[in-house]
Amino acid sequence: MTTGQLIFIFLAVASSRLCMVFSLRPLSGDHHCNREKLPSQKALRTDQFTVLINGYSESRIPILHTVTGIYSSSPSVAAVVVLWGNPKTPIKTLVQLAHNLSISSPGDAPISVIRQPSSSLNTRFLPRPWISTRAVLICDDDIEIGPKSNEFAFNIWRNNPEQLVGLFARSHEIDLTSRTWIYTVHPDRYSILLTKFMLMKTEYLYRYSCEGGESMANARLIVDAMRNCEDILMNFVAANKTGVGPVLFGAKRVRDWGDARNEGGRELTAAEEVAVGLSSRKKDHRKRRGDCIREFHRVLGKMALRYSYGKMVDSVGEQGLCEKGGKLVLCDQQFFK
Ligand SMILES: *[C@@H]1O[C@H](CO)[C@@H](O)[C@H](O)[C@H]1NC(C)=O
Ligand SMILES: *[C@@H]1O[C@H](CO)[C@@H](O)[C@H](O)[C@H]1NC(C)=O
Repeated sequence: MTTGQLIFIFLAVASSRLCMVFSLRPLSGDHHCNREKLPSQKALRTDQFTVLINGYSESRIPILHTVTGIYSSSPSVAAVVVLWGNPKTPIKTLVQLAHNLSISSPGDAPISVIRQPSSSLNTRFLPRPWISTRAVLICDDDIEIGPKSNEFAFNIWRNNPEQLVGLFARSHEIDLTSRTWIYTVHPDRYSILLTKFMLMKTEYLYRYSCEGGESMANARLIVDAMRNCEDILMNFVAANKTGVGPVLFGAKRVRDWGDARNEGGRELTAAEEVAVGLSSRKKDHRKRRGDCIREFHRVLGKMALRYSYGKMVDSVGEQGLCEKGGKLVLCDQQFFK
């Protein structure tokens, strides 16, 4: 059999699985995977993190000013980098944008804009030689969280450096009737954090882009074919490494500018955020995300996703009372001698 025939068969199998045709192309991360060009783990600083914001739409530039300004003012942030994914935006605009963001920022951390090498969603996770921190925040250009929540998230990550730490959670689940994996939301458990806000070890960029051999290469091809699900795949990568699920935290103030209901600037509660995320107009989106979970399971050969329960909150708030030496005390006091 010739190579041509093999490729044809591979495409036919892949496209029947995914109901779409995609072209074979080299791994997007190839030349980014040279370890010698990347700083060693030990050289990376642990007292700050790097923010990688996905930018695409010029209409969102005003929001980008607000969002980059907040990150750049955070003492825990070493640098803010906008990864620009829209190949149609002229380079002149990007140069202007970088200048405008920098001069308007109230913060100290430098802000820059970098054009992505391709429109592949996998490029969000490319390892970068200029990342000088052991943690990176992968986030969207339309999510605004308060400065205190940034610090809080970073503290959580420092206590759980192997796990993904995030603000928006979803879940995989087995559907008993169809006996397939589906994408859903659960009131009390989760296994997937979204890249709207995902703080993690910088090392996971390398794992995602460069490790895992042929099966990860196939998983990355699925991300390209679906034009979606890079966040789900990162959750597979992290859970495969740790054997446990991610860490969800609660922020007091989150503004999701991507949601039309936010026109009035109203902030969403966590419950509303989940409701919007799974509304009926997003049914097709949910189905496609389920397809991704099934495909990743198939090509990676196992269901790596793990559930986590509960979330971290930054105030102890109302506590239960516990008995200690015959007296009722706040429960956290009983652990202190
Ligand atoms: C940058 O700022 C200048 C002056 O306010 C404005 O004319 C221009 O449109 C801005 N460009 C971008 C890309 O934000
Ligand atoms: C999962 O972990 C195994 C064992 O460490 C490794 O061989 C494999 O490449 C990993 N897969 C992914 C998707 O990270």
